[in-house]
Amino acid sequence: MKVVNHPATLLKDLESHGPPSTRVLVPTMGCLHQGHLELVHRARQLAGADGTVILSLFVNPIQFDRAEDLEHYPRALEDDLALCREHGVDIVFTPQAADMYHQDHSVTVSESVLSRKLCGATRPGHFDGVCTVVLKLFNLTQPEFAVFGKKDFQQLAVIRRMVRDLNLPVNIDGVDTLREKSGLALSSRNARLSPAQHKDARRIHRALLTAQHAYDQGETSAKALLHNARSEIEASDQGAIIDYLELLDSRNLQEIDPVTYPAVIATAVFYGKVRLIDNVELG
Ligand code: PAJ
Repeated sequence: MKVVNHPATLLKDLESHGPPSTRVLVPTMGCLHQGHLELVHRARQLAGADGTVILSLFVNPIQFDRAEDLEHYPRALEDDLALCREHGVDIVFTPQAADMYHQDHSVTVSESVLSRKLCGATRPGHFDGVCTVVLKLFNLTQPEFAVFGKKDFQQLAVIRRMVRDLNLPVNIDGVDTLREKSGLALSSRNARLSPAQHKDARRIHRALLTAQHAYDQGETSAKALLHNARSEIEASDQGAIIDYLELLDSRNLQEIDPVTYPAVIATAVFYGKVRLIDNVELG
């Protein structure tokens, strides 16, 4: 496994890695957990034994809307590198922010419809930051495939839209959310929860499943489905606060009521300063 720190040398390093082969990129912000490793395994399937799996570890400053969140974002470089080695990553790209962004950088990518909802509504500029860094990573690695998790449902939708609208020569692959046994979606941010909050946070997925179950039983009123899910989260005695809870058409992320397939119910919940997101698809 090779570790590359500088954007300027990355393509050269990729070219000298061996004969041309399928390149697959897994963009991450590090502090890797089993959910990220699912993406690595999928990347290996797509790349084949002779292909090159590239994992980027970069806490992208321009996608954070709160300085506090950026400052406290967990970092674990040595553990991450060990996991990458263990799981067969070929190239790890770990740039410094100063090498990724010129001091006077002034070009960003902006998606203007899908980004307005959910995380975009409460985190201004977040998806501009995501699109910009992901496009830079695509340019720096020129992969045939890039793998993303469905846990960040909106992120995946926005990236697919960017790829479509900018004719980017990359195939996007989405991987199902990996969960703890309790149902809580794995996230680097879970490490910042107290044990009691961690236990309580299982209610997030339970709330979404309640809505999914009611939908499967024939309830199509978005208002009713959201009401039940909301009550489940608000029953928390650990101070869970809903940032958003919405039911949207999963193709364009616009609100729908009554619900028609395909739809997604997505939420962001704060425990203190820790913000967790999750979603389930309906239908
Ligand atoms: P990060 O939060 O590190 O997530 C990296 C990738 O792992 C994303 O595609 C995310 O959806 C996926 N992922 C996280 N938890 C998962 C889980 N429990 N199951 C399956 N996949 C999971 O998302 C980002 O970083 C950044 O925004 C990034 C795309 C790297 C741009 O900076």
